Amino acid sequence: MSSATIPVIAIDGPSASGKGTVAALVARALGFHYLDSGAIYRVTAHAGQRAGVSLDDESALATLARGLDLRFDGVEVFLNGEAVGDAIRTEEAGRAASKIAAMPVLRAALLERQRAFRRAPGLVTDGRDMGSVVFPDATLKIFLTASCEERAKRRYKQLIEKGFDANLAALFEDLSERDARDAARAVAPLKQSADAVLLDTTGLSIDEAVQQVLRDYRAASAV
Ligand code: DC
Repeated sequence: MSSATIPVIAIDGPSASGKGTVAALVARALGFHYLDSGAIYRVTAHAGQRAGVSLDDESALATLARGLDLRFDGVEVFLNGEAVGDAIRTEEAGRAASKIAAMPVLRAALLERQRAFRRAPGLVTDGRDMGSVVFPDATLKIFLTASCEERAKRRYKQLIEKGFDANLAALFEDLSERDARDAARAVAPLKQSADAVLLDTTGLSIDEAVQQVLRDYRAASAV
């Protein structure tokens, strides 16, 4: 199978929209691979901080990104063989990722690495530009979102469940700020592309959202 014929479901959307959970469950239902592209930006920022690279140094970060020893195993992420899942999923790591994600040279450095995840029998991936830039020929493109209030509540619940401290008002502010930065950047901004299907999950359960994506995928692959 040539890589271009391998199906891709690209799920883009804002932070804490639940796109990662939905994407991973869709991948499981179809027996497809799953790529959390945000984790790559998070790991890159994390690796930079560890190596003492300034988060303003675009060329040093791009060099580091090209050589990153990164491996996914289920939902766990390994950097140089060490599990870093918890460290990269803090709010601080999210802010650092959003900051470096605005850098065009860094984004270009990560492009091929992301495309390499397109392997048979198929890939489900989530991020901000999966449908617009990384996999423009995706079989199905979804823009998955929810109101900012709903997303702040979901993130709050997630953090509390993991035993972290959390403040709902601060999370709301943080998400609004991050959305604004991700949407305003010059390269690959967060926005629904014309050929993406809008899925607003504000009133939906995770399972309802998963079933909707599966229906859309069946419809898209039948044509
Ligand atoms: O999805 P996430 O919250 O883990 O992503 C972390 C940051 O990485 C987010 O603020 C924007 C950036 N990102 C991006 O620019 N492009 C992607 N495809 C995925 C994430």
